Amino acid sequence: MPSVEDLIAGLRIIPVVTLHDAAHAAPLADALIEGGLPIAEITFRTAAAADGIRVLAGRDDFCVGAGTVVSTDNANAALAAGARFLVSPGVNPDVVSIAQERCCPVYPGIATPTELTSVVTRFGLEVVKFFPATAIGGLPMLKALAAPFPNIRFIPTGGINAGNVTDWLDHPKVLAVGGSWMVPARAIAEGRFAEITDLAREAVAVSGVA
Ligand code: 3PG
Repeated sequence: MPSVEDLIAGLRIIPVVTLHDAAHAAPLADALIEGGLPIAEITFRTAAAADGIRVLAGRDDFCVGAGTVVSTDNANAALAAGARFLVSPGVNPDVVSIAQERCCPVYPGIATPTELTSVVTRFGLEVVKFFPATAIGGLPMLKALAAPFPNIRFIPTGGINAGNVTDWLDHPKVLAVGGSWMVPARAIAEGRFAEITDLAREAVAVSGVA
């Protein structure tokens, strides 16, 4: 398997998943693979997150990461479960440190030049999540923020969908986007995995990545 960063750079879309039952993890991964997106960020918004990550961590046909990693408890649980990357909505320096100590890629969310300055200078990060992408000003904000940081690439997340994903991906500093639009929590909970395959396939097709 390629490195996580190479995989993300190649796929360019990270499904952001809310899992209510770890038993859904395997069919969800199968559905995403079928749709062309063998990667997901399982968010620590439910009690099923760590178990869901654990179910997928052993697979070599799928790259599972942890999302909504806001605390050191979340980070330790995600790493113990086998998460291959960590994503946070904001910057918790302790989470970044834990990930770096374990050589695990970590993408804290930043929304301002000050936050970006702090993660760049303190941790040497070169890729960050840009969150919540649409609400904090969309592409104009990203362009303005990216200009003084030419070596930084972004993973915008929040409000991205099949209708606007290409606008984001066209920006040269956008490594990939994250989004939940192809993995609706309700479709997962109701076991409608064929729908997820269709949505993933559509995401891949409109993004022009495949
Ligand atoms: C996240 O946690 O990254 C976001 O909730 C995903 O945003 P979206 O649901 O608007 O895609």
